[in-house]
Order: sequence, then structure tokens, then C-alpha cells
Amino acid sequence: MAIAKRMDLLGSETAFAVSAEAANLASTGMKIYPFHLGDINLPTPPSIVSAANEAVKSGKTGYCPAPGIPELRKALGKDVGDARGLSYGIENVSIQPGGKPSIGKYIAAMMEKGDVVLYPNPGYPIYESQIEFYRGVAYPYGYVNTPEGLRLDFNAIEEGIKKGAKHIFYNNYNNPTGASSPDEEIERLANLVVENDMFLISDDAYFDTLYDGTPKSIASLPRMYDRTLTMYTFSKKFAMTGWRLGGAIGPKEIIEQITRLNVNMESCTTHFIQHAGVAGLNAPKSETQEILDRLQGRRDILVKILNGIEGVEAHMPEAGFYVFPKITNLLQKIGFNDVEEFRKVVLKETGVSFCGRHHFGRPLETETDSYIRLAFSGIGKGDLQEGMNLFRNWIDSNTK
Ligand SMILES: Cc1ncc(COP(=O)(O)O)c(C=O)c1O
Repeated sequence: MAIAKRMDLLGSETAFAVSAEAANLASTGMKIYPFHLGDINLPTPPSIVSAANEAVKSGKTGYCPAPGIPELRKALGKDVGDARGLSYGIENVSIQPGGKPSIGKYIAAMMEKGDVVLYPNPGYPIYESQIEFYRGVAYPYGYVNTPEGLRLDFNAIEEGIKKGAKHIFYNNYNNPTGASSPDEEIERLANLVVENDMFLISDDAYFDTLYDGTPKSIASLPRMYDRTLTMYTFSKKFAMTGWRLGGAIGPKEIIEQITRLNVNMESCTTHFIQHAGVAGLNAPKSETQEILDRLQGRRDILVKILNGIEGVEAHMPEAGFYVFPKITNLLQKIGFNDVEEFRKVVLKETGVSFCGRHHFGRPLETETDSYIRLAFSGIGKGDLQEGMNLFRNWIDSNTK
């Protein structure tokens, strides 16, 4: 049997490999503290669950249109448009089974072989994987650690533009770093995109998981409406990670191509789940606010505990599910050179499971610091504190 050569180019989301490792240990009876995956251990709001049940009962179980049911396309276009001060009609929306499919489908539809594509690294690893799978040139840009938080590395972005980049992935609010762009950063990026005739994919997975204030999208900036494809997902805002529902929202010409890929890949997104999605968009705000409040409580405790550990420096994420502490000094203190080795030993000896920076794109040669990522979406407050106590005690007992 010969596997196609192109499969050598395909990357992965290695956080799922950490999950498998943790699950193996759990099967031996060990208690695991799951900080590794951006999954949510909170229930999907009841109005969404009822709507799904109702849709199944009323026979919404057959195929439906490839770009999605018109009710959902309309409601999602309106929701995304209203939140960004823009107007999206049904023709601007293609429903997807989750947020992730829009990434590969954009690449497949719009990127030529050899095109340079800018993407955040550390960042969601699927950008790098899909760009390379379709034989593009993946050009990473990182973040600069400043006292105010992690900021986009514009030197790298400008270098990528000099190399001819025509597409850029942008993930504000970012996984894994928790970075969020201040207004001037979004404006500077938008200007570069417009001046250099580029197209931007705005991965808005955490747009609605901002803890304070009003989220801002780069699509709302002057001349960006026609240059932005928004990747929307129901996964995070509505605690629906396993339902698989999302959408691509943007210029009609791109949406049509993405929908052609829907037909080829899955025919349509699960019919009755789309009706549940409509209910979610119409649900009372209190249902999603409760999710946000609980996540915020966990975030606050986690950041405080981490910053209380000598050698650990964590920024407070304004949005999303993740804390991305710098642990360079910690590793030095306990005599480790390698984050992966540290991660594995901590998991084996304490059950505390988290990811390293290397799970989020190939580390850049210029990087000198070490980081880990802890997700607080899949662990309740009690276990979060218990796990962090074990982590701290383990560090104390391993400090030379
Ligand atoms: C930045 C980012 N983009 C996209 C996704 C994919 O979302 P979904 O699970 O809805 O496919 C995730 C999921 O963790 C994410 O963190």
C-alpha cells in the first residue's frame, strides 16, 4: 500500500495527541487535570439543546442545501454583521461543520501553489498544516513580549509582505497566546493589507469570548470588508465544541467557492444542528453570559496562581480560554532544557496536563524563551486549584 506523497505535507493539531496521552494515563486510574485542550466542560445552553431535539423530532434529518439552511445563513449574517457594524446577506454566508473547515477551504479555493501566506506562530496549528498541504509557502509571524502584553511582530509581517505574501491569517483574540490587539495594532495591520492588496482571514473563534468591553473586528475597518473572510464558530461562545457548527462569512465570490467545496466534502453540515444554531443566535444573552462568567472566574484564579510561582510570568488574557506563561526562568531553576520533556514529566508525576509552545506551529529560529499553554475551559475551579497546587508542589520539590 502506498500512501500519497502529499500526506507528508499535512500537519496536525498536536494538542489532540496530548489529550490521547492524558487519556492513556487516566485509563490507569490516575487523576488528570486537563489544561491541554480548548474544550469546554460546561453544558450547551438549554434553548439550543431543545431546538436540536425539536428539529430531530420534526424530521430535519435529511440533506439540506450545501451552503446551509437559509434561516441560519440569514441569522448568522445578521449576527456577525451587527457585531461588526457591517452588513452580510445570505449570499455572504456558507455554513460549515465547525470553525476549522473554513481554514482549509479558503486555502484550497484561493491560494495558488507557491503563494506566500502569512500566519501567526505561535498560533492555531491548522493554518501551517493546510498552507503546506496545498503547497503554499507558510510564512510565520510571531509576537513580541511587552509589559502591556504580547504584540504582533510587524517586522516579520513586513518581511512576509516583501516576500510577496498575498494572504494573511489573523487570530484576534489569539490561541494560544491570549494576545489581543489594541486598536492601533488592528489599524496598522489593516493598512498593510490594503496597501499591499492582500486578503485576510479573520479567525474569530474567540471574538465573543471577550471578558470586558466590546470586541472589535478588522473587517470593520475602512476598505477591509471586501478583503476579509471571517471564520465563525459556535464551538466556544455556545459551549458547542462537539456539535460541529460554524460558518465562513465574507465576499460572495469566495463564499461560492467554499460552498463548492462543501458539496465535494460533506454535502451539507448536519441539518438538525443548523436549526439548533438558529436557536443559539436567538437565545437570551444570559445563557452565554453564564458561560463567560464561569470562564472568567477560572481565568482570574489561574493567572493569579501562576504569577505566584517563581520563574513563571503570565499575562492576563482579555479573551479566549488560554494562559500562555513564559517559563524560561522556571525551567532554568529546575534544570530542564526542553519544554516537551518538562511537560511529559509533570504529566506523568502529577496528572497536570498542558501543552507547550511547540504544539502551536513550528517554533521560530529566533525564539529564545520557553512558554506553555494552559486552557481553563475544560476544568472546574476546584480541580483547577487542586491541579495547580500539585504543580506548585512538584516545582518546589524539584527546585535545585
Ligand atoms: C483559533 C482557533 N481557530 C479555530 C478553531 C476551530 O474551531 P472549531 O472547533 O469550531 O472547528 C479553534 C479551536 O480550538 C481555535 O482555537
